Amino acid sequence: MDEGDRAARGLSPADSPAGPHAADQAVRGDPLVSAFWAIGAATLLLMAFGATVRVHGAGLACPDWPLCFGQLVPQMDFRIFLEWGHRLVAGLISVVFLVAGVLVLRDPRRRALAGGLVIAAAVTLLAQIVLGGLTVLHLLAQWTVTSHLLAANVFLAFVLLIGRRLRQGGRAALGPGPVAVRVSTGLLAFATLVQLVLGGVVSSSYAGLVCTEWPTCFGGVWFPTFAGLIGLQVLHRLGAYAVVLIAIANAALVWNDTALRRPAALFLVLVVVQVVLGVANVILSLPVELAVLHSLVADGLFQTAIWLAVGASTSTLIAAPADSKVA
Ligand code: HEM
Repeated sequence: MDEGDRAARGLSPADSPAGPHAADQAVRGDPLVSAFWAIGAATLLLMAFGATVRVHGAGLACPDWPLCFGQLVPQMDFRIFLEWGHRLVAGLISVVFLVAGVLVLRDPRRRALAGGLVIAAAVTLLAQIVLGGLTVLHLLAQWTVTSHLLAANVFLAFVLLIGRRLRQGGRAALGPGPVAVRVSTGLLAFATLVQLVLGGVVSSSYAGLVCTEWPTCFGGVWFPTFAGLIGLQVLHRLGAYAVVLIAIANAALVWNDTALRRPAALFLVLVVVQVVLGVANVILSLPVELAVLHSLVADGLFQTAIWLAVGASTSTLIAAPADSKVA
């Protein structure tokens, strides 16, 4: 964590056993921090690209995998370009991640900080590549599409956590925050995860338009059934309202912690935008741009929730040389 965290706990950089700014100098210059932020940003864009492929019905534009029509570069039309381009960008990101990951693993200091996260991200990436292939080979089965969405989010979370750990460098952990804060941020992350999965099931089972009204769902009834496709849509709406309520309670709880206040506020803003987008998608019958935006904001919500939960459980505040004790 940064200056804000120190200020929140009444610490200044001068409190560092290593002296003012020592840790910042040590870690701010690490080019790998920027590399992982860049990989994270590119991954988020790739996920929006993936949603674009889905809403254009281009998921099967290349009928085979890993090649497309048996070729590395097939003859293009718009939908083939989308699916093939998605694979190409995913491949490029994978290569850059692998290079950056190897650089972390080969350096003992970085390996100690983030080696486990690099391995976890690499395993998730491998699973993601296989899931991408299965999504094509199983003709967009519900479980493959939803797992692909989930694995992309988990990979992105690992990438951002690697950047975070490398940026924190050798600063010593002050210890976890209060139990109530850990529980509330953990609950928010869990509820967001469930909502993300529900959304994936809604879109991959084409249940997005089975309710054409809001706030009611069908024939003026709020919750006509909890079964079938309408039931899925109803559950997704209820999930959204639950996430909003948890987000409000969580923001109230962490408001005095300057380190957590900003991500909690960001989550609140994003969740309001997300509900508006969800409602607009229903009322306007899923325009392509809004469907992609809804997917993108869902990714942003999940990442913010993970950031909050990790921030609440591992506060890392002050610079410390390896052999010094930190209060
Ligand atoms: C916390 C709030 C919400 C989250 C995190 C969320 C998340 C998601 C996700 C991840 C998807 C799948 C996107 C994809 O496959 O690319 C989705 C789909 C969908 N969501 Fe939400 N959602 C939320 C709120 C809402 C609300 C309030 C509504 C409507 C009242 C709504 C309506 C829809 C619809 C109609 C789809 C299907 C979109 C499609 O087929 O492309 N969502 N949601």
